[in-house]
Amino acid sequence: MDRLIIKGGSKLKGTVEISGAKNAALPIMAASILAGGEHELDCVPHLRDVMTMGRLIANLGAGFHLEGNKAVLDCSAISNHEAPYELVSTMRASVLVLGPLVARLGKAKVSLPGGCAIGARPINLHLMGLEKMGASITLESGYVLARAKRLKGASIYFDIPTVTGTENIMMAATLAEGKTLIENAAREPEIVDLADALTEMGANIKGAGEGVIEIEGVRSLRPLRHRIIPDRIEAGTFMTIAGITGGDITLKNCRTDHLDAVINKLQDAGMIFSAVNGGVRVRGPERLAAVNTKTMPYPGFPTDMQAQFMAMMCIAHGTSVISEKIFENRFMHVAELRRMGADITIEGGTATIRGIRKLKAAPLMATDLRASASLIVAALAATGETTIKRIYHLDRGYERIEEKLGKIGAHVRREKE
Ligand code: EPZ
Repeated sequence: MDRLIIKGGSKLKGTVEISGAKNAALPIMAASILAGGEHELDCVPHLRDVMTMGRLIANLGAGFHLEGNKAVLDCSAISNHEAPYELVSTMRASVLVLGPLVARLGKAKVSLPGGCAIGARPINLHLMGLEKMGASITLESGYVLARAKRLKGASIYFDIPTVTGTENIMMAATLAEGKTLIENAAREPEIVDLADALTEMGANIKGAGEGVIEIEGVRSLRPLRHRIIPDRIEAGTFMTIAGITGGDITLKNCRTDHLDAVINKLQDAGMIFSAVNGGVRVRGPERLAAVNTKTMPYPGFPTDMQAQFMAMMCIAHGTSVISEKIFENRFMHVAELRRMGADITIEGGTATIRGIRKLKAAPLMATDLRASASLIVAALAATGETTIKRIYHLDRGYERIEEKLGKIGAHVRREKE
């Protein structure tokens, strides 16, 4: 397993090219199952999760390869309907093949994803939606078996605006008979990008990005040519890096309209944003001001930015309160930040951070994707040299991160453990 060694203290300056969004690439790769022929996706990030999804789809009988940042998938010969435990257990987003398989083949056998570091991560809402569309669902030795001769359009209400649940049902509904309504649908930009991709394939979708999505089923879809949207969480992570180091970073290929809630909070903390062509320039103040926030479904403050924002607040002037409202266990980074001298107390799903002047380097352990990112944010501002172990978590969601950091003046190197 690899580790990162980071010497903190520099004000980071320069330009970073934001990669394509992991959480748009994964569902859109799964959507390729819906139509035979050769699909081409541009701006696909080189990430472990993308390779896992590629292997999973290849395992179903498709062809998959990457040409630079272009993914090519040929789904003409999809014949196997099973997503095995050994692949699904390494990536929860594998559940995204469930809806497309039932729609394309009339059956799917997908391993239940199991829990992960940040929570139980159930998929009951995904299964409720498919059942309402006429699928028979049974659970057998850790697998979901779903069958339907042809799915039927239905009205589906989600108690919680689940992101991958909305994506699974939206994909399944494109080939169903009749109209499907998804109410209390998730509104993330990645949902809109998936709807755009499905529309390019010939699907009939209205309302993506709003609370109600309407899908009129069609008989078949055609291969896809699509460019993935920029990764708003990678962009937000680099914004917190500019903030905590008092740096001056220009982000290229960045959609600031996908980050309104985050940018509002960063401006409240004293950061300065100025538009540049194709991106945004972000500057950190001499000292950040403490700011409160709570994570909410989009367009609220994203849970995937909570850990990085907390790292930044550790050295802000004053006390900030951060509430995690989406996942039940997403404070795994707190114990690690405390080892650097951070003053954080937790009460249920709420963390109180009393800002200190300086964090100190320490040996740290990554636990999940965004917690790893928050440790990097903290280490870049800490006095001394920090070691972060188990950074395979980080490689799931950040493309070439040490290269991008090096280009803006960070002292970071990767070592084999
Ligand atoms: C997606 O996960 C993202 N993953 C997550 O990003 C992100 O943190 C999350 O949405 C929230 O924004 C991908 O897009 C691949 P949810 P997802 O279903 O879809 C509960 C990252 O860092 N729930 O919106 O799994 C669930 O327990 C990852 O890239 C049910 O109860 O999240 C949670 O409390 C981490 N039943 C809440 O809803 C269900 O059937 C939101 O989960 C589904 C979800």
